[in-house]
Amino acid sequence: MSRIRFFGGKGGVGKTTVAAAYAAHQAGQNRVLLVSTDPAHNLSDLFRRKIGPKITAIDDRLDAIEIDAEKEAHRYIEEVKSNLKEQVRPALLEEVHRHIDMARHSPGANESALFDRITRLILEEGSGYDLLVFDTAPTGHTLRLVSLPEMMGVWVDGLIGRRKSLKDETPSWVKDPQDKPDPILEKLNQRKVRFSRVREILHDQSQTSFSFVAIPERLSVLETQRAVEDLIQNRIPIGELVINKVLKATSGEEFFRKRARAQLPYLKQLHSIKGIEKCIELPLLEFDIDDETRFRDFCRVFTDRFTE
Ligand SMILES: Nc1ncnc2c1ncn2[C@@H]1O[C@H](COP(=O)(O)OP(=O)(O)OP(=O)(O)O)[C@@H](O)[C@H]1O
Ligand SMILES: [Mg+2]
Repeated sequence: MSRIRFFGGKGGVGKTTVAAAYAAHQAGQNRVLLVSTDPAHNLSDLFRRKIGPKITAIDDRLDAIEIDAEKEAHRYIEEVKSNLKEQVRPALLEEVHRHIDMARHSPGANESALFDRITRLILEEGSGYDLLVFDTAPTGHTLRLVSLPEMMGVWVDGLIGRRKSLKDETPSWVKDPQDKPDPILEKLNQRKVRFSRVREILHDQSQTSFSFVAIPERLSVLETQRAVEDLIQNRIPIGELVINKVLKATSGEEFFRKRARAQLPYLKQLHSIKGIEKCIELPLLEFDIDDETRFRDFCRVFTDRFTE
């Protein structure tokens, strides 16, 4: 079974850079798949190559993939339509397809398709890796993501109940309504089993942990405190807190000394968040991490602090 590590945090704090550095660091000894669930897809920008929805090799033991909720929803709907061909009378197919297209734009459709894709990665495609590292979109999205198995389970239960009562009434649009085992009910039951498996994995601290990236500024501190509380409530195992872009200016220009002093109370607050096992401070570097050489420099700094 592969281990799973999520990286979450507020916009722009360094999630993508830190997740990629962690993945590269771990790829020294393990086979690692780095997964982006952020529609902005900064992994392609960071590694300066097109990654996209197919698993792409980055380094010897490091692969990456960028999954896109909207594209996943589209693919999923097309799959449902083609499955229905065998079950719906041809005369009614167009009407049924119209209803399905409408469902495509209903609230939660993208998220549930994204979750289906993540489920496939965790249960099947990712099983050849020792570690899956998830670079996520800003916090709100991530928390919904990890609480999705719960919601999807309830939703599928509701559908199963409705399907059972509908079957007794035999809707007129279904071909060969009786005799065979109900394929829709079978599919729903399969999904239920898969969701509860993923739910177990996400709650198992020997397998999963959720790390945060924050910067020593007020809004990032507030958001991290809230997010940690939410995860504790959802019983998701919490890993390290990476405090990024820390200034250590004890001498030199007054501007930097003031800025470094301004970070101190927030550093203290971040270090005292309950539920976090370990904090790692990373300095603000004098350059942007925008090419391979800079990324290697950042990885060295990360590895030094991470293994301390
Ligand atoms: N320690 C650091 N020193 C200097 N620059 C950094 C550091 N960490 C990250 N950066 C830079 O900060 C910017 C934001 O980083 P990154 O894209 O990793 O953040 P993010 O949290 O993934 O953002 P988003 O929420 O948009 O996905 C990037 O330009 C990156 O190169
Ligand atoms: Mg990012």
